[in-house]
Amino acid sequence: MHVSIIMDGNGRWAKARGKERVQGHLEGVGSVRACTEAAVEAGVKVLSLFAFSEENWGRPEKEVSTLMELMFKSMIDEFSTLMDNGVRFVVLGHREKLSKNLNIAIDDLMKKTEANATMTMIIFLSYSGKWDIMQATKRIAKEYAGREDEIDALTEADFSKYLVTAGYPDPDLIIRTSGEKRMSNYLLWQGAYSELLFDDTLWPDFRKEQFFSALKEYASRDRRYGKVK
Ligand code: IPE
Ligand code: IPE
Ligand code: MG
Repeated sequence: MHVSIIMDGNGRWAKARGKERVQGHLEGVGSVRACTEAAVEAGVKVLSLFAFSEENWGRPEKEVSTLMELMFKSMIDEFSTLMDNGVRFVVLGHREKLSKNLNIAIDDLMKKTEANATMTMIIFLSYSGKWDIMQATKRIAKEYAGREDEIDALTEADFSKYLVTAGYPDPDLIIRTSGEKRMSNYLLWQGAYSELLFDDTLWPDFRKEQFFSALKEYASRDRRYGKVK
């Protein structure tokens, strides 16, 4: 149902070729396209991609601005790929931190692809798991002010409705490329029972073949959710 990818290793890919880090990000767009097509082919319903974390704002200003420009440009360039594949485009994250122009482009693409129903592509932009849990908690606190007697009855399902991912299924599989074995503050709540797959391939080299082999590995997993079979 839902495959999620922590797209990592662009900088190392570029460095290994004596190029600037940004060249790795540019090449990574090709991997986004390849994995989108592969996911559609495989019948995946939601493909989510971790594109920029809250912590990534702390990178050098030049890299941040180049990344934001690349997001902006890709949203225009990839429009036809999304339409051809019936992909609905969604951005989730701390949208207030993004520039006005980028937010306009995001809203525009979300609107234009709204009716596409083959697959939903979620781009996590300016996102972090702890931020999401915090913003949900704050909203709940405000909403329940004056009716604290109702708080004890809140369920996990109720809480999920306040996360930015409300309405989307939790990821079945989270893939992280580049060999790093950590979550880096990604989907902390939603990934509670996700299968994790760490692949050594650097993101710009992660294409259809690697995506399909990840699905194959997933198919061999035994998900128990704490129970006994
Ligand atoms: C992933 O590649 C892209 C983003 C986090 C925006 P990196 O830029 O983290 O590449 P490495 O990990 O330094 O190789
Ligand atoms: C995680 O990668 C964030 C994204 C892929 C968007 P990072 O490269 O930022 O993570 P760390 O710093 O290695 O944990
Ligand atoms: Mg990295």
